[in-house]
Amino acid sequence: MFEVPTTFAAPHVPFTQPVVSRDGADAVAALIASGELKSGGALTRRCSERLQADLGAASVLMVQSCTAALELSAILLDLQPGDEVIMPSFGFASAANAFVLRGTVPVFVDICEDTLNIDPARAADAITDRTRAIVPVHYAGIGAPMERLLPLAAEHGLAVIEDAAQAIGASYRGRPLGTFGALGTFSFDATKNLTCGTGGALVVNDPELVERAEWIRDCGTDRAGFARGESSRYQWVDAGSNYALNELAAAYLAPQLDHVAETSRRRRHIWDRYHAAFAPLEAQGVLRRPIVPEDCEPNGHAYGVIMPTPAARDALIRDLAAVRITASFHFVPLHSAPAGLEFGRTNGPMHHTDALSSRLVRMPLWTDMTDAHTDRVIAAVARATGADVDPRDLTR
Ligand SMILES: Cc1ncc(COP(=O)(O)O)c(C=O)c1O
Repeated sequence: MFEVPTTFAAPHVPFTQPVVSRDGADAVAALIASGELKSGGALTRRCSERLQADLGAASVLMVQSCTAALELSAILLDLQPGDEVIMPSFGFASAANAFVLRGTVPVFVDICEDTLNIDPARAADAITDRTRAIVPVHYAGIGAPMERLLPLAAEHGLAVIEDAAQAIGASYRGRPLGTFGALGTFSFDATKNLTCGTGGALVVNDPELVERAEWIRDCGTDRAGFARGESSRYQWVDAGSNYALNELAAAYLAPQLDHVAETSRRRRHIWDRYHAAFAPLEAQGVLRRPIVPEDCEPNGHAYGVIMPTPAARDALIRDLAAVRITASFHFVPLHSAPAGLEFGRTNGPMHHTDALSSRLVRMPLWTDMTDAHTDRVIAAVARATGADVDPRDLTR
């Protein structure tokens, strides 16, 4: 005898799923067979050359993570204890940690209400004679207002380090994100558009920084020059660490770098589907959809809606979980987190950071997500929020 179930559980819709690259898996297998596992090998070179060509950067260094790229940047810019670096509080801990580890003080400022990116007016207010750099985050692959931040930085002699962790393939005024500051940092973590599990890239746009960036990446040695045949031996020349990307990870990532535009296009399709479906919900005041300035060409990294209240945000995440859909909050603000209170300081009000971070819900989104998945999420959001719509009308 068996029991006939009265209900069938719908399959789980995860929040994200890493890309499965068959070409990448083949490249990993071939690399293992070849025994050429030393970092900085042919696959790492393929990744950096591809990114360098796509971005038009002076150099691109493949590193272990975006966190490593940010730490390398802080060493490269010789940031000292007591120096200050301005960044949005609405960001990931790595941007702050990279500087805290050098005794440098992260100064947190508010974000713009529309894009959730750093507010340039707040950044200007935060500049002191200790300020050394500005670290804009391109949240969800939507460009921060570089046309205001770059002149501000130039006027005060500040470096710009773009936290472009989420922004591979996205552009601002036709130019790729990650190429505006002296330095840009990408992530290839499992949640990102392209992934090798854990990985990153440091984009070096200022040619004068390239040689020392290589030294710092290579344990403080001039091994990169030696490998290019520029010297007969290599030696310890500076303070550094082992930041180089694992060659196995480079092998998995390299084929994906040939399909950046296609990945963005597929994710934008899902993004657009959410956006069109949620228009009537926005018109009814049930939620607010993301706002993309005309200057920005995003990469479909993430789709987040702003709910009217924190309670409505929590209820939506809970109600979606009840129908086996995982949605997520994002970024507990750095300025009010325990380490932010200990190591950083806040400049100016944090109204938008506090109000928006407590009401944001990120929808499931991954590159191979099907329309059926997306439509299930859309219908579940319509039901959970009690919007006055027939969910079937939203997904036709
Ligand atoms: C905005 C931002 N910065 C930095 C990071 C850190 O990236 P990684 O995990 O590659 O160190 C992330 C990753 O989630 C991020 O979203």
